[in-house]
Amino acid sequence: MKRQNQSSVVEFILLGFSNSPEFQEQLFGVFLVVYLVTLLGNAIIIVVISLEQSLHVPMYLFLQNLSVVDVSFSAAIMPKMLVVLSTQKTSISFISCFAQMYFILFFGGTECFLLGAMAYDRFAAICHPLSYPMLMNKWVFMKLLMMSWALGFMLGTVQTSWVVTFPFCGPNEINHISCETPAVLELACADTFLFEIYAFTGTVLIIIVPFVLILLSYIRILFAILKMPSATGRQKAFSTCASHLTSVTLFYGTANMTYLQPKSGYSPETKKLMSLSYSLLTPLLNPLIYSLRNSEMKKALVKLWRRKVDSHPF
Ligand SMILES: *[C@@H]1O[C@H](CO)[C@@H](O)[C@H](O)[C@H]1NC(C)=O
Repeated sequence: MKRQNQSSVVEFILLGFSNSPEFQEQLFGVFLVVYLVTLLGNAIIIVVISLEQSLHVPMYLFLQNLSVVDVSFSAAIMPKMLVVLSTQKTSISFISCFAQMYFILFFGGTECFLLGAMAYDRFAAICHPLSYPMLMNKWVFMKLLMMSWALGFMLGTVQTSWVVTFPFCGPNEINHISCETPAVLELACADTFLFEIYAFTGTVLIIIVPFVLILLSYIRILFAILKMPSATGRQKAFSTCASHLTSVTLFYGTANMTYLQPKSGYSPETKKLMSLSYSLLTPLLNPLIYSLRNSEMKKALVKLWRRKVDSHPF
């Protein structure tokens, strides 16, 4: 039997994009701007929805939770990634690496379920407007919300505590932008077959099932839209649906390719790009496509702005 020294790795090195150092500076600038815009956009949504009573309905309360998740998800990934981009090689302690893995899974998982719950909410509102108050009553709403957070929490806890038990005997260079499970798993010097089966099953349940449900509800919504009498209403509803679907597909599609088979044959560079799509693009775009394009949200923003200006006359 091969002897493995479990304590031989005390820290990992995150390589980031160090194989293309000529781009690092530009990437740092771009990602810094993306991070700040993500924080700002989501913060606006959280504040506007908490202050505006008329937005205290399930659709916006889901959105507010989604913004909290987006901010937390970015905060788990971006600051460390910016540090990685501003140096050639960055070390990350064993504990921090697994803490990052935990938070990525926790918030990423919660995001998966929240997006699913939001699609169900829109489906009920558009396809069954008369029974909507009953389909999405306060109890159902709270249950969906609590389930999303609880399942995200469980995913993070189970998966991280499994991966952390693997022996890591070196090398310790993670060729990725963060300590995501598939990248860390490459370094485990143990048979990870059982874990891969679990990851496959888990991904099917956590990513594919919500994604299929979302697709089905949007298909039903599209049919409902096609039956609308006014052409402008139809066009507007259609463009809203199309933008939701695009972002949802981008998020679930790339997360799926990454997590379904953790040791899949994609090159590390492809995996980095896919990771950027769900960890950087989704939190950036969500506020834009779900709320800032939305007329009720715009009205609430203007109203709060006026109130603020009125209360501080110059
Ligand atoms: C999510 O929304 C619910 C209902 O509005 C709220 O009570 C809860 O605090 C929100 N959770 C977070 C983390 O913002």
